[in-house]
Amino acid sequence: MNILITGGAGYIGSHTCVAAYAAGHTMTILDDLSNSSPESLNRIETISGKRPRLVVGDIGDRSVVRSLLDSETFDAVIHFAGFKAVGESVAKPWEYYQNNIAGTLVLLDEMRKHGLYNLVFSSSATVYGNPDPKNLPLREDAPLAAVSPYGQTKLWLEDIMRAMAAADPNWHILLLRYFNPVGAHESGLMGEDPNGIPNNLMPYITQVAIGRLKELTIFGNDYPTRDGTCIRDYIHVCDLAEGHIAALRRVAELPGCTPVNLGSGNGVSVAELVTSFEKALGRPLPHRYGPRRPGDAAACYADASRALELFGWKTKRNADDMCRDAWNWQSKNPQGYHTK
Ligand code: NAD
Ligand code: UD1
Repeated sequence: MNILITGGAGYIGSHTCVAAYAAGHTMTILDDLSNSSPESLNRIETISGKRPRLVVGDIGDRSVVRSLLDSETFDAVIHFAGFKAVGESVAKPWEYYQNNIAGTLVLLDEMRKHGLYNLVFSSSATVYGNPDPKNLPLREDAPLAAVSPYGQTKLWLEDIMRAMAAADPNWHILLLRYFNPVGAHESGLMGEDPNGIPNNLMPYITQVAIGRLKELTIFGNDYPTRDGTCIRDYIHVCDLAEGHIAALRRVAELPGCTPVNLGSGNGVSVAELVTSFEKALGRPLPHRYGPRRPGDAAACYADASRALELFGWKTKRNADDMCRDAWNWQSKNPQGYHTK
């Protein structure tokens, strides 16, 4: 298939490009490089022996999207582009609504004007809000709620896509709800490269391990979980990337708008992840216990059965693999891609 990948220079997008080449697809990336480095394309090329065409531009810039879709025929779009930091979205809600929602509206409009109706969209487990423990593991029909402007953008985009697909039977949209993507390509050539001090657990851990940060604070050890720390569904970014390729194989056959969880289905606690990481590191990771982080759910993990049923896909890599690969990436690239 010939695929347009928005946000393809970013963390999940770049890993998906490698998986897409392995599956024989061709692709063009549309990315404004607002949160990524073009160096990721060099790394894709080193791993795959092929380099995606990069169009540097904003999904919300109609002239860019229109001329791209005028110039080339695509079979499907994988839409990663967007801002993703929860805390930043609270400080800059307008920027999140503008970029994620207004940008996606332009993309959707140009897609339908060009007769391009196959879409794989990056949603998030954030649409489940702070889940009620009685709904765990989370099925796609669990109640939805937004707990931040970022979460609202994902929920509203899901609603917009559901309404558009209900009104026009041409659409085939897969709403992929990612749980907690972590890890890196096993080569150590590609990985997560957050700006500033990371908020998310795995990049914080790897930056403590490399000495860029002093110690990890584990937010809370008094949750009603097996060891008192929060439980999440971590998914190796290469499993996630392969999930997109599995979704692409089915998108044209699945009419309407279908939400699908991409997670492992297993809950791992913060303390367990730290123990796995220490195994990969070969020494203790400096850490201490601190107060709970406001707004955190005690536990959040997927029922991953729909992805298996619809796509024949499930995760293959476990927490030890995630930690080994995250550490391999960070230790080979102490400053990430350098060039941001
Ligand atoms: P990322 O920031 O690494 O990648 C997003 C890419 O989109 C970046 O390369 C950025 O430059 C680009 N971009 C942003 N706005 C753009 C615009 N208007 N036009 C063109 N390009 C634009 O993030 P990621 O972790 O790879 O996430 C990809 C998608 O998956 C996002 O939509 C995110 O919300 C979603 N998601 C991520 C996670 C996670 O934990 N990483 C979890 C759930 C969902
Ligand atoms: C975050 C996002 C969520 C997104 C998800 C997947 C927030 C509030 N939510 O969720 O929208 O869908 O990532 O990308 O950012 N932790 C520590 N110490 C740290 C950092 C984290 O103990 O320094 C703990 C947290 O309390 C949490 C777990 O690690 O229990 C995972 O945290 P994080 O990586 O931020 O992901 P989520 O909070 O699950």
